[in-house]
Amino acid sequence: MSAEDNSQKGQRVLWASRMGFIFAAAGSAVGLGNIWKFPYITGVNGGGAFVLVYLACILAIGVPILLSEFRLGQATGTDPISAFRVLEGKKTRWSIVGYMGVLAAFVIMSFYSVVAGWCLDFVVRSAQGAWAAGEAGTAFGDLTGNSGRQIFLHLIFIAGLVIVVARGVREGIEKASDVLMPVLLLLLVGMLLYATQLKGFGRGVEFLFAADFSKISPTAIVSALGHAFFTLSLGMGAMITYSSYLPEDANLVSSSVWIVFMDTAIALVAGLVIFPIAFTFDLEPAAGPGLIFSTLPTAFAQLPGGTLLSTLFFLLLSFAAFTSAISLVEVVVASAVNNLGWQRKKATSLVCLGIFLAGIPVVYSGTFFDLMDRFSSEYLLPLGGLLIALYVGWGMDADKRDATVASLPAWMQKGWLWTLRIVTPALVGFVFLNQIFEFV
Ligand code: PHE
Repeated sequence: MSAEDNSQKGQRVLWASRMGFIFAAAGSAVGLGNIWKFPYITGVNGGGAFVLVYLACILAIGVPILLSEFRLGQATGTDPISAFRVLEGKKTRWSIVGYMGVLAAFVIMSFYSVVAGWCLDFVVRSAQGAWAAGEAGTAFGDLTGNSGRQIFLHLIFIAGLVIVVARGVREGIEKASDVLMPVLLLLLVGMLLYATQLKGFGRGVEFLFAADFSKISPTAIVSALGHAFFTLSLGMGAMITYSSYLPEDANLVSSSVWIVFMDTAIALVAGLVIFPIAFTFDLEPAAGPGLIFSTLPTAFAQLPGGTLLSTLFFLLLSFAAFTSAISLVEVVVASAVNNLGWQRKKATSLVCLGIFLAGIPVVYSGTFFDLMDRFSSEYLLPLGGLLIALYVGWGMDADKRDATVASLPAWMQKGWLWTLRIVTPALVGFVFLNQIFEFV
């Protein structure tokens, strides 16, 4: 299969601009992972020390794998299943990475879309002035107790995905990301300014940055590593798919730096907004998945203009979730179009139907929710990332591989290669062993 197979009219689709690619890939990276998941797992894992481990994972493992995925897509111009076949010039077992990516897309979407549905619900409630009317504390419980409503919202979110992805990614995603990403950034900075005025700001900062390593358990390390993969959309081929729409001469290093910077900055700012609020209003930082849905409305209720701000905030969060979800769906759709010969429209509809069904058990069972969440970020993504590191480090044609980092000084090139070859496998391997021991 060649690059042309993924195109509209026999021509390989490319991003209109480098900026467009950066915003789209950042749009994939920045999502619920940053604003919903990062604060809640930081809360559950006790704060500062966890954040440091997470940052270390981003730098030591996230960045090298992001570059690898970008190169795999750019060098082949095709989906994650076909990419390995193109590089090897024949059928190959490495394509398993692509198949696992497809599985991961379904597993992630099953809970991601449900949480996105919660965001949509909060857009509506915010706009109706529910917080000002004193419903901030009860709204989340009401919602999670109402399965019908959650399924309905999950369906709406997925319907939106069908519309965009069926039309093809380029026009839709690139344009939307160009607008939405900067607006999201601005809004978060505005909220950060607000948070600095709260009496809990100091405690929030301390919680996020004061590292107490006695709080670091093996489970915390597993979640930090898993979250590094999740937040950068790594290990399941989303970044391979997006970079397949890049020209051969695009500089992957500088794009990666921007994407990782935005993703990390947005997660930290989200933490700097949410924890001060939690401490100011005596809410529990370890509240779990409901954290932002219980802290933020409480703060918005106290705020002049809170109704408008809250509506905007949850709307943007829904958009951030949307641009990430598009990339998840696109992995499966591109794979189906290239490997099964399906029309894009048919592929999109069937894939989204599958995702809709997969989300239903998640609505009914918190255990299932947790299971899908952890199975994806603690097993599937790190395993996919490990295989990608091994392939690029040891298996890939050296000339093609080295082009990835050609713009960097020699020591960094070596550093990248040996990180993929040794450091990543060792760390991910260690984490897996630990998982297995814990299981046994
Ligand atoms: N990175 C997205 C987020 O942080 C989630 C995601 C994971 C998207 C894997 C695509 C692939 O919300």
